[in-house]
Amino acid sequence: MTTHLRAAGVSVILDDRGAEVPSLLHWGRDLGPLGEQSLAQLAVASVPAVPPSSIDSPLRLSLIPTIGEGWTGRPALSVWRSPASPAAAHARALRLTSRTTDTAQPRSGTEVSYLLGDAAAAIEVRLDLELTPQGVLRSRLTVTNTGDDDLGVDAAIPVLPIPQRAGELLDFSGLWAREGRPIRRTLEHGVHARESRHGRGGHDSAFVLSAGTPGFGWETGEIWAVHAAWSGDTSVWAERSSLGPSTLAAGELLAPGEVILPPGGSYTSPWTVAVYSRDGLNGISDRVHPWVRSWSAAPAIPRPVVLNTWEAVYFRQSLAALVPLVEAARDVGVERFVLDDGWFRGRSDDRRALGDWTVDATTWPDGLGPLIDLVHEAGMQFGLWVEPEMTSADSDAAREHPEWVLGGPDDPEWRFQRVLDLTVPDAADHVFRALDALLDSYDIAYLKWDHNRDLLVAGSHDQTEALYALIDRLRAAHPGVEIESCASGGARLDLGILSRVQRVWPSDTNDPLERQRIVASAGILLPPEYLGAHVGAERAHTTARHADASFRFATALFGSAGIEWDLSRATPAEREQVGGWVSEHKRLRGLLHSGRTVRADTADPAQVVHGVVDESGHHAVFSIAMVGSAAGALPPPVRFPGLAPDVVYEIRALDIGGAPVTIADQAPPWLAAGGARLAGGLLAETGLPMPLLAPEQALVLELRAIDS
Ligand code: GLA
Repeated sequence: MTTHLRAAGVSVILDDRGAEVPSLLHWGRDLGPLGEQSLAQLAVASVPAVPPSSIDSPLRLSLIPTIGEGWTGRPALSVWRSPASPAAAHARALRLTSRTTDTAQPRSGTEVSYLLGDAAAAIEVRLDLELTPQGVLRSRLTVTNTGDDDLGVDAAIPVLPIPQRAGELLDFSGLWAREGRPIRRTLEHGVHARESRHGRGGHDSAFVLSAGTPGFGWETGEIWAVHAAWSGDTSVWAERSSLGPSTLAAGELLAPGEVILPPGGSYTSPWTVAVYSRDGLNGISDRVHPWVRSWSAAPAIPRPVVLNTWEAVYFRQSLAALVPLVEAARDVGVERFVLDDGWFRGRSDDRRALGDWTVDATTWPDGLGPLIDLVHEAGMQFGLWVEPEMTSADSDAAREHPEWVLGGPDDPEWRFQRVLDLTVPDAADHVFRALDALLDSYDIAYLKWDHNRDLLVAGSHDQTEALYALIDRLRAAHPGVEIESCASGGARLDLGILSRVQRVWPSDTNDPLERQRIVASAGILLPPEYLGAHVGAERAHTTARHADASFRFATALFGSAGIEWDLSRATPAEREQVGGWVSEHKRLRGLLHSGRTVRADTADPAQVVHGVVDESGHHAVFSIAMVGSAAGALPPPVRFPGLAPDVVYEIRALDIGGAPVTIADQAPPWLAAGGARLAGGLLAETGLPMPLLAPEQALVLELRAIDS
């Protein structure tokens, strides 16, 4: 028998004919409504030849390949028992014992689960696969110990075969304030593995590992991509060997001995999120963005425009210092005022007080009430920064409960702080009660939930589960409160945390030059309304680089927009510009936060082109940014992918913080004339000539269908 899952242009065909572990016959473009006979023929015809010097039967790579089936590549499942145990055995002979699907039709649908058993190893494995309506393939394993003694689990990650033509890899790395650096390489023989032992993805997270046809880009190429929807340690890999198909996998990295199952105990892996695209990286976003938008925790639209106090005042908090900022925020149209780090008991700098989540009586002698009232009177919501998973040695929490601190007493500090062991019920309760009390006593619409250090302990499974439980508990108690996930910027960007929060802070840098890249990378999986995007001061605090208003505003326009700049010191002209930008963002955010994000492949890598097109294809906004010097005297015409080919658009430039600077006065005539009219098909193919933008400048264009 075979099972065919189909959705949104994707087919997944599973060979589950016999008692063997199911294998993937096809994961790729939709093959249409194949009849039972065709599926059976495919299964038979897909059996490979037997090469010399190999096992004597055709190698059949299953979704849980192990040594027992002749697979000598990286295994999906690694379990062990004590050598003294009579049942000491690795899983080698899993056999299918049952199958369930979500429909009455056992061979089609969108979900299937298999139960497999290995009697000798005394384990049971459940394999869940789901093809979402958007064509995202999720899979996970649950390992249960059916033996009489403990079972160690070192790895349980489904392994997905991909076609040999997927010969080029793309994943990411980075560092603080410089997240999301793409790395391309050829998929050579061996394992290309990216492992995080940060207890979070880390600033250098691989994020999403794509294997595609050589040269794949934003718009073109076939891609098979995987991501681990998990906020702890992860392992992501691609493997190529002479054995047969190449493979991809993404899941939880377990430390030795981290998961030991008692008799009857189970371990469920996080979801491996796998996405196929025939239209480059845009095709990945086309599946993941609508899927994420369908989640129950997805943020309410419209996203409020934020002002965050961090880069405006840092730890210099007081009512007097913040009143002018509240007023300035109100005047430019801000809708949510967020009080960042520095408000709680003893927190005069970043060296103390984490864990003591009550309001500091010196900084805020009358509590936060007066500030919150002011913010509300100004028509804004109030948000508050917290870092619930942490504690400082210099805090009452750590002094009174050293047993709540994760790791040994001599372990290194990081940003002068330690991690709270949330698996200690009293520690998790302490944090819950403190946050619950704050949310009860004040009208707080939003928490910026930070996580500023690596865990630096072996294994992060239980801590990550405890974090999820804490967020879930808090959300259940305060369902109206939104949470932003931050981890020194983008050190914890994954679909596990994303399913529990409404916004992320992709980076601590507000430098638009860095942000252009960071948003492009994070935006492959995360829809723009999740990506906090703040306009900072003219000179970026993280890089000391200067950027013109138009470049800063254009870069922050598309995301969950905000301001992180001491507006109370800005000139009247600057404030007016900010106000104009806020109004433009509000006018466009309905489109920006529901439409389809598209990026263009450009001949000149200095030219970064991306846009959002609404569902009807009648309205779009594009940004053309120069992130370096142009390669030639004239930049190539800009193509606009994703438009409706037969619709004629009126294209006009928007005033986003003033006109961008050009290196020649003469704009192309269409721009000088105030706009152009062109069909979507032509805009996508031939494109439009652009002005000679100077480096670090951006032009924002709005495209509207002309009513015929
Ligand atoms: C982290 C965050 C910043 C800010 C500071 C406060 O670095 O990423 O945005 O909130 O903490 O300490």
